[in-house]
Formats: sequence, structure tokens, C-alpha cells
Amino acid sequence: MRTRITELFEIKHPIIQGGMHYVGFAELASAVSNAGGLGIITGLTQKTPYDLSEEIKKCKDLTDKPIGVNLTFLPVIDAPDYAGYINSVIQEGVTIVETAGNNPAKWMPQLKENGIKVIHKCTTVRHALKAQSIGVDALSIDGFECGGHPGEDDIPNMILLPRAADELDVPFVASGGMSDARSLVASLAMGADGINMGTRFMVTKEAPIHQNVKQAILDASELDTRLVMRPIRNTERVLTNKAVERLLEKEKELGTGIKFEDITKEVAGVYPRVMIDGDMDAGAWSCGMVAGLINDTPTVQELIDRIMTEAEELVKFRLENMIQS
Ligand SMILES: Cc1cc2nc3c(=O)[nH]c(=O)nc-3n(C[C@H](O)[C@H](O)[C@H](O)COP(=O)(O)O)c2cc1C
Repeated sequence: MRTRITELFEIKHPIIQGGMHYVGFAELASAVSNAGGLGIITGLTQKTPYDLSEEIKKCKDLTDKPIGVNLTFLPVIDAPDYAGYINSVIQEGVTIVETAGNNPAKWMPQLKENGIKVIHKCTTVRHALKAQSIGVDALSIDGFECGGHPGEDDIPNMILLPRAADELDVPFVASGGMSDARSLVASLAMGADGINMGTRFMVTKEAPIHQNVKQAILDASELDTRLVMRPIRNTERVLTNKAVERLLEKEKELGTGIKFEDITKEVAGVYPRVMIDGDMDAGAWSCGMVAGLINDTPTVQELIDRIMTEAEELVKFRLENMIQS
């Protein structure tokens, strides 16, 4: 399939694996790229820029296809060493960066001078237009359904994607709730040039996370995610568990007076305990509503091949037949 996204990133299929904390390691990113999509290493999961360089080297040993690095610009005072992480990306010859979180304007000149293509992830048309105006090459539009941070506007993809298509000039992928050929064909119909998946890629053979996490997603339905941290305007969609229910109770009790310090037990340092140790009640971890559509654990290659084959069938048979009859 050829779209503006496959052309831009020089990949076979218009399918991207979004950056995921403690999930987006070399093993998963290389598997996605080898299967013809775009695999992305999560920069901030690596504790130092040196560690990121090592992870990129490892990934490059596993694939000769394009890979990307996610840089999430967090709204914190004590910011990570972003300049160092960007130097690692440049030095290791990675040519694609997925930015997320705060506006990446500060880093754009350096990224562009070094020939890096930037895809920025955001959850509103106004943020997408802003990113386009500072020169990003593409956008990843994350609807309200998404695992992770859906923003504060709560616009689902059925509205957000056609709105983005009406306003944007640069190519964009649909993100949030994507799992199969139906997601891809619907997204293309609404004006996107491909899809970005997070939660779906967690339940693959190559995803380097604890089996308990994969099983929890397999067991979950579309009713099992919750929105946390809304009162501090850092909304995150997570899979419900004991810690999440406790966190929501605290939010109810403390109301708008709640501070980050009140909930650190439920949200700080959670990812390694969940993803590596498989401690499923350790705290809140991102998961999309799409959990309700995930019922198996294929290899990444099987998943991507299935999406592409069934997408072609959907277009050629189901849709084409409807027009002809
Ligand atoms: C476990 C998990 C961790 C995530 N961590 C990050 C992250 O560190 N940075 C980021 O930009 N997005 C992160 N995301 C968001 C994904 O990149 C992607 O945008 C989102 O999962 C898409 O929604 P979906 O899960 O419905 O496919 C994370 C998502 C999940 C499920």
C-alpha cells in the first residue's frame, strides 16, 4: 500500500508502533520495522543518553529497516536531558523522531538541520495546526479512545480524524483504538494516511513485557479503562486495577485541591514494576479502550500481515461490492 506516510518514512505498510514507556525497546521496534511498519524506541525509558545510544545500536543490529525514537517532552520542572537524548539520536543516525507532550519548537531547528523527519503526536486540531506551523513533517492524531494521554478535550476519532483531514496539509496517522484492518480502512476513509498503534502491539509475541500484562489486556473489555489525573490536567487512560480505584477515590475526596504529591504512590515508578515484574496492582499504567478488541497474541509479522491482507479484502470485496450492487 502506498500513502504519504509510507513515502515519507520509506516503509512498506502505513503502520506505526507508538512510543510506549517500558514497552518500546529494541525487540519490539525492530520486529515492527522488519514486518514493514515503523518501530519506535521510547527515548525516556532509557535512563541516560548513553543507554539510548546502546538501545539504538541493539535495534540496528536487529533490523536494517527505518526505525524511530520517541521523545516525550514532559511538563515537569526537573526536565530530563533532552539535548543529550537528541545527540544520541543524531549520532546513531536515526532519521525519524516521534515527539509528544509539550510543543517541540525548541528542538525543531536542530532536528531539521540533521535531516531528521519529525512526526508529532497530539490530541487536538489546534495543537496539530501549531505543530504544522513549526515545521513537523507529519502528525499522529490521538483520539479520546487512546491508551496514554488523550488530552483534555475528549474528542473521539470519528470526529477528530475528519476534522484533522479538513485542516491539515501535512500527512497524519490515526492513533487511538486502532487494532485491525477495519481500523486501517476506516482511518484511510476519514483522511488519514496510516495508523499508529500502542496497546495492540503490547499483545504480540515480541513485546518485551511480562506475560501478566499481556494476559490482563486479553482479559479486559472496552469497559475496563479509566481516566486518571484529570483534576491535575494530566489525564491518562489506564487499565483499572486496585491502585487505580484507590487513586480515583482520592480524586473524589480531595477534589480540585488534589496535588501530584497526593497520588505518587499510585503513579510514580510504576512502569518497571508492571512491565518487568508483572505486578499488576503496582499502580496506574496506560492502556487503550481497544483492549476490548484484542483476543490473541500473534507475532508482529502475523499481526501486520493480517491487517494488510484483510484491509485489501475489505476494500476490494466488501466496499467494492456495495458500490456495484
Ligand atoms: C503502556 C503505554 C505506554 C505509553 N507510553 C507513551 C510514552 O512514553 N510516550 C508517548 O508519546 N506515548 C505513549 N503511549 C501512547 C502510545 O504511543 C499511543 O499513542 C497510544 O497507545 C495509542 O492508543 P492505543 O493504545 O489505543 O493504540 C503509551 C501507551 C501505552 C499503552
